[in-house]
Amino acid sequence: MSDVPVQPFLEIRGIRKKYGSVEALKGVDLKAYSGEVLAIVGDNGAGKSSIIKILSGAITPDSGEIIIAGKKYNRLNPKTALAAGISTVYQDLALVNTLNYRCI
Ligand SMILES: Nc1ncnc2c1ncn2[C@@H]1O[C@H](COP(=O)(O)OP(=O)(O)OP(=O)(O)O)[C@@H](O)[C@H]1O
Ligand SMILES: [Mg+2]
Repeated sequence: MSDVPVQPFLEIRGIRKKYGSVEALKGVDLKAYSGEVLAIVGDNGAGKSSIIKILSGAITPDSGEIIIAGKKYNRLNPKTALAAGISTVYQDLALVNTLNYRCI
């Protein structure tokens, strides 16, 4: 018997995003379940940050669906993403400016 819930907490379907002529996301599907630690891994420029920015409402997809806790969204903004339960910690090389890497 598995502890993984049947319904994903978060699901994206067919997410597409273009920046001008650059097709960054070409129909991305993804499911994440409550309690799951999920890593998205890919080459430089593969589209990882674009997915996270779409989920946090920083940018909007050209098409596709986002489903969070059973509610469907075509797009999110930072406020609706946060209200839906999406928090983002962005990459930062100096989270604590006064400490060097030996201290962190
Ligand atoms: N604001 C933007 N304007 C134009 N092109 C962009 C923009 N943001 C991302 N891209 C392009 O979209 C593609 C996906 O970029 P993205 O940053 O999502 O990838 P990534 O997987 O996070 O890359 P990295 O591993 O380098 O962080 C790349 O070709 C990138 O150059
Ligand atoms: Mg990135």
